[in-house]
Amino acid sequence: MNAVLNAPVYDADVPAPEFKPGPAGTHITIRGLTKYFAGWPLYENFDLDIPKHKIVSVFGPNGCGKSTLINMIAGLIPIDSGEILFDGKSLKDTKIGYVFQNYREAMFPWMRTIDNIAYPLKLEGKSKAEVDRRMAELVASFDVKFDLNRYPYELSGGQQQTASIMRALAPNPEVLFLDEPFSALDFEMTLFIREKLQEVFMQTGTTMMLVSHDLEEAVYLADQVLLLTKRPTKVAEILPYDDPRPRTTATLSEASFIAAKKRSLEIFQREVRR
Ligand SMILES: Nc1ncnc2c1ncn2[C@@H]1O[C@H](COP(=O)(O)OP(=O)(O)OP(=O)(O)O)[C@@H](O)[C@H]1O
Ligand SMILES: [Mg+2]
Repeated sequence: MNAVLNAPVYDADVPAPEFKPGPAGTHITIRGLTKYFAGWPLYENFDLDIPKHKIVSVFGPNGCGKSTLINMIAGLIPIDSGEILFDGKSLKDTKIGYVFQNYREAMFPWMRTIDNIAYPLKLEGKSKAEVDRRMAELVASFDVKFDLNRYPYELSGGQQQTASIMRALAPNPEVLFLDEPFSALDFEMTLFIREKLQEVFMQTGTTMMLVSHDLEEAVYLADQVLLLTKRPTKVAEILPYDDPRPRTTATLSEASFIAAKKRSLEIFQREVRR
């Protein structure tokens, strides 16, 4: 109720400002995005362009609205006002995938893992042959070594998160959202899934928005690091990072990688102190 009372009032007689498209290669345009929680602004008149066929890592202070941002773009949380378009289309005409941090709650426990992964394809009304073909492709591309006929709770955390990434990618989404997908995994599994994600990205070029609280990981996977301020949240800086792929452990000691990480850290610290 408070949020409604305190939200900005828009006069219906004032024409909306002209929509400004993003630069060439933009996939997602966000214009005038406003979101209040309990009467306090989180985003106010926020504009952003997300490039196509790139990985954007979202990084910023605790509670600055990283999850809320991708959740609003993915349509999981309503916005108060503004416009979000995907190649000029609305969300309902766009296929997206979402990978949750908490893989334990992300899958249907009553379905075998393989049926969880195939679920979005069945929802789309794909035939058994089409589902089988896509599943075979996914299993090959993820090099799955565990038994997909098991129930999710019979798998390790890393296996479950691998399966939930496979499920998100099954319908070949235009955009994949990932909210801290590695944070509940051990180091070995994090490395494995990180590499898989990079491989899938190199094969498909799926636009990805990745929220990460680990700066090294955020930079390692990114074409752009989107650094956010404290709330009310703005773009602090968009830092390009264009070392060639595949990036490997050798990348971690490249001067360009270290410089991108250092610059991101400086901006982050500046924003945290502000
Ligand atoms: N449903 C809600 N009601 C009220 N406030 C909320 C709600 N959801 C989020 N917030 C607030 O909005 C802000 C942004 O939350 P969000 O979870 O998006 O931040 P975040 O950057 O992802 O944080 P973290 O680094 O902890 O993951 C926080 O201050 C949070 O307390
Ligand atoms: Mg979050």
